[in-house]
Amino acid sequence: MDAAHHPSALLTLPSGHELPALGLGTWRMGEDRGRHAAELAALQLALDMGWRAFDTAEMYADGGAESLLGEALRSALRGSLSREAVYVVSKVYPHHAGTEDLVRACERSLRRLRLEHLDLYLLHWRGAVPLHETVAGFEQLQQRGLIRHWGVSNFDLYDMLELVDVPGGAACSANQVWYSLSRRGVEFDLLPWQRARQMPLMAYSPVDQGALLTSAVLRELAQQRAVAPAQLALAWLLNQPGVMVLPKSANALHLQQNWQAANLKLDADASAQLDQAFPPPSGKQSLAVG
Ligand SMILES: NC(=O)c1ccc[n+]([C@@H]2O[C@H](COP(=O)([O-])OP(=O)(O)OC[C@H]3O[C@@H](n4cnc5c(N)ncnc54)[C@H](OP(=O)(O)O)[C@@H]3O)[C@@H](O)[C@H]2O)c1
Repeated sequence: MDAAHHPSALLTLPSGHELPALGLGTWRMGEDRGRHAAELAALQLALDMGWRAFDTAEMYADGGAESLLGEALRSALRGSLSREAVYVVSKVYPHHAGTEDLVRACERSLRRLRLEHLDLYLLHWRGAVPLHETVAGFEQLQQRGLIRHWGVSNFDLYDMLELVDVPGGAACSANQVWYSLSRRGVEFDLLPWQRARQMPLMAYSPVDQGALLTSAVLRELAQQRAVAPAQLALAWLLNQPGVMVLPKSANALHLQQNWQAANLKLDADASAQLDQAFPPPSGKQSLAVG
């Protein structure tokens, strides 16, 4: 593996704004008071290390993950970190995605995060609320300066096509879906479509919530290159154009490994062997859902 420049590359949104290609997930954090101090320390360590993008949701620990992230950000922002240097993403429940409910849900998220705006606000998955109502809510939030950009999550190509057809829907900035070595279905249609619109695909569960790391092939290829299996899996994703990668970790060593993954440049041999072990799709596959 060759060393490459770090911090990780920036991706460009359709609006021309940029966001980091590597961000930290927060699912399953903030659930347990007993782990509070350790999780807060992990987020503070991540900020010290240089992580600048954070992914959360009102769903995670019922707002607990947002509160925890807010606490970590507050102390960093009181120090030398500027708000403009951090990229914060949160998500709204589909049952809060009606125009007025969406605005109120965002206000609650901002209170928990102790922030005045979100950089990106996503519809967590598609529910019963008509898309045009949700888009109208996102537009109101943008007009009030409470969010910079909006997007969706768990939308397959047919959902995206419907979305860009509703009034204002073409302003969607990102779509967050499960994408990992073992879940490559998006490469067939969704990812090329998003690339053509310069709309980043945000890869969640990039190590399949840990399960991918038991793969014998991945472990062997990683060992040969003296890197951790997670680093190889993340380097492979970071190598895909237009993809933002969102590993979650609350462990100091893993945070360090994952951050360093952005320094690894995938060699052609590793790439070919990974393709053999985890073949790209040869036809349409339904979107994997976490
Ligand atoms: N939009 C959606 O519907 C959706 C769905 C799922 C996830 N997400 C977002 O994507 C983020 C990431 O996905 P995820 O949390 O499902 O799974 P993930 O990032 O694929 O895996 C997280 C698990 O892997 C472990 N891990 C991470 N780095 C490791 C390393 N270097 N070595 C060994 N183990 C490692 C973590 O444990 P430690 O904490 O001990 O390191 C944790 O158990 C979420 O946190 C969330 O922000 C979004």
